[in-house]
Amino acid sequence: MSEHTDAAVTYGSYLKIEELLLLQQPRSTGPEHDEMLFIIIHQVYELWFKELLHELDRVKALLEQDQSHRAQHTLKRVLTVLKVMVAQLDILETMTPLEFLSFRERLEAASGFQSDQFRQIEFLLGVKSEQAIQRFPNGGRARAALERRYQESTLWDGFLQYLSREGYDLPQAQLMRDPRVAVVASPDVQQILVRVYQNDPKNAELCERLVDLDEGVQEWRYRHVKMVERTIGARRGTGGSTGATYLRETVGRPIFPDLWDIRSQL
Ligand code: HEM
Repeated sequence: MSEHTDAAVTYGSYLKIEELLLLQQPRSTGPEHDEMLFIIIHQVYELWFKELLHELDRVKALLEQDQSHRAQHTLKRVLTVLKVMVAQLDILETMTPLEFLSFRERLEAASGFQSDQFRQIEFLLGVKSEQAIQRFPNGGRARAALERRYQESTLWDGFLQYLSREGYDLPQAQLMRDPRVAVVASPDVQQILVRVYQNDPKNAELCERLVDLDEGVQEWRYRHVKMVERTIGARRGTGGSTGATYLRETVGRPIFPDLWDIRSQL
């Protein structure tokens, strides 16, 4: 029998706790007390973004395999994570404007604008933008990940193809859509979705979960912009945008416009 020389797995070795605890490095002198919270909350969000990508890729793959029940199960998990992500903004709102200003200048041009995982989630859902890729330096991990996601079909495409295999006569133009183009409203798709809602409870339920997902992302955007307004008011963002003015434009912009447009036709 060969002898085991490897150290036994422990909580710390499995979860890489030593490495994890070295990753919070404030830049302010002192350092300012609240910078720790600011760093940790962003790191936690990036981990949730990673988990969302992991699960949303799964949802898309399950739809491709016509496993809609399991896709819905996974979507339920995504929605639960999203709720936690929205609730977490409460923690950051305990930081007053002055507490934030005490270290804000040390962020220089760093901003959530540069979160490639957030853009990856948008791309995967169908919110594509070639311009968003340009913000990430050539040759890096983030740029490569975004370029790949830009070319790939979206969750919405996966859903339409699934519906087509379920017997719905979706137009070829929709099924062969260029995945690099952002998803926009389509009256043809809406006609079919109305039929799904009226006659097909199983797939209507799936549509409702996608609406939940869309609403969950909008809720995050809304809470984020409110937090921005109460923390920096009308100041410009560190990423160079007009700040709350820019962010307000993104709130209420649906990810799956057809699923919202049909509401008045049901
Ligand atoms: C005091 C807290 C925060 C402030 C003042 C703030 C401010 C801003 C501002 C002004 C923007 C617009 C881009 C720019 O010009 O910089 C932005 C974008 C963004 N922020 Fe925050 N933010 C805060 C916390 C967070 C947290 C905790 C996250 C979680 C990851 C986050 C994620 C993002 C993302 C993903 C964007 C891009 C949104 C888009 O382009 O649609 N922010 N933030």
